[in-house]
Amino acid sequence: MENYRYLISAHNDALACGAEGRPSFFIRTYGCQMNSRDSEKLASLLTQLGYGTAVSQEDADLVLYNTCCVRESAEDRIFGNLGRLKRIKKDKPGLIIGVCGCMTQQPEIAQKIKEKHKYINLVFGTMNRHRLPEFLWRAINEKKQIIDISEDTELPELTDIPVTTREFPHKAGVNIMYGCNNFCSYCIVPYVRGREKSRPVEDVLQEVQALAADGVKEVMLLGQNVNSFVPSFPTLLRQISDITGIERIRFMTSHPKDFSDELIKAVAELPKVCNWMHLPIQSGSTKVLDDMNRKYTQQQYLSLISRLRAAIPGLAVSTDIIVGYPGETDEDFEETLKVVREVRFSNAFTFLYSKRSGTPAAARTDIIPPKVASERFDRLVAEIGPIQYEINASKIGQTFDVMVEEVTPVDYKGRTDDHSLVHFSSPTPLKQGDIVPVKITTAKTFYLTGEHHA
Ligand code: SAH
Ligand code: SF4
Ligand code: F3S
Repeated sequence: MENYRYLISAHNDALACGAEGRPSFFIRTYGCQMNSRDSEKLASLLTQLGYGTAVSQEDADLVLYNTCCVRESAEDRIFGNLGRLKRIKKDKPGLIIGVCGCMTQQPEIAQKIKEKHKYINLVFGTMNRHRLPEFLWRAINEKKQIIDISEDTELPELTDIPVTTREFPHKAGVNIMYGCNNFCSYCIVPYVRGREKSRPVEDVLQEVQALAADGVKEVMLLGQNVNSFVPSFPTLLRQISDITGIERIRFMTSHPKDFSDELIKAVAELPKVCNWMHLPIQSGSTKVLDDMNRKYTQQQYLSLISRLRAAIPGLAVSTDIIVGYPGETDEDFEETLKVVREVRFSNAFTFLYSKRSGTPAAARTDIIPPKVASERFDRLVAEIGPIQYEINASKIGQTFDVMVEEVTPVDYKGRTDDHSLVHFSSPTPLKQGDIVPVKITTAKTFYLTGEHHA
């Protein structure tokens, strides 16, 4: 391991003295926040290996795509963009192209790249990403395509790599667990991310402490099912709350089936834990939920929301919904609409069901005609938007603490504790991570506008 790191660094240092200068990298990330955090780690690793950063893939000497395969559309987009890279490489034969992450963890995709995409230099997966220096060295020196998606259990976290390249100064994602054991019938994640594995509590706490020392004020605890963290997610929340400097704690994703009363109590008691929960429902129909292997009913979901709202005033709930799961009838879909009206989600990510080969749902023949699915999709979106608008409009005139996320030439963008996006003005200059009171003046479907008075 260390050897390859040394070899690559020495190689890049030598190049840095030549006319071409130090080689640079560009990483493009697809998919969820887990992938974003992985990319930050990979970027830090590449920096440690002596690569400079490039501002675009056109300028880079090494381009790495960290991929997602949760829906077919994600894969199509990645192959489309890879085609563009292939053309860039025609004029720049020395360009190294790497593809890693969830999509390449599927053996059939690795095979497809081997057969049809020979311009790609290296391919690795989700469970051996720490071996990047070795793959890179071999791709450069052996001058042949390197494909390795073997699953390593050792060092999956890249714990020894200080994250030097973070996307934001004021907030960071922190993986608390990997993989998933739930095997929802439609989902490919358990196959490409492996079995659920919690990180040691001490490692997580150390990472958050280091982030706090580096100026991070908000952490997002990440996992496919954070509330099944072992030994205890509520305890972990309490431990992280004790870390000085951290002011906001968020987490995703929680699985409704594992949301215990103890967790509700912890969220209610800990002021740093934000009043926002992302709780994917997927469908409002108990029959479809059963088919999906979600292990809760519509009633159980609604009861969880009531208990959460009773304990946590002002709680915002967002969700994920899949439309057009095989066998979904009009009545099933009406149940989803009913739940949407009842829960009043502050945000909902809606997806058309996408068949993923290898999953149990892929074997079903009672597929929903695309036209029916897209009609339902449009009806669902039309239902969600006005509710979002009403929730936002009810905030006009109130004042909320907003953390600055982005400084633009004309205004500031930030988020409230309950995750609402606010565009606002300020008489005094602010920086990312500042938390200031903002009075809401107008509401749109997807954001609020307001003013900070110093
Ligand atoms: N672990 C999280 C979600 C991870 S994937 C959870 O259990 O909720 C993010 C979202 O993608 C899912 O919530 C689901 O709504 C959607 N999704 C997953 N597989 C899908 C598929 N095959 N077709 C359409 N949407 C899918
Ligand atoms: Fe996929 Fe279900 Fe696991 Fe979420 S809980 S990652 S939807 S299998
Ligand atoms: Fe996609 Fe992998 Fe995340 S499939 S959603 S990047 S875990």
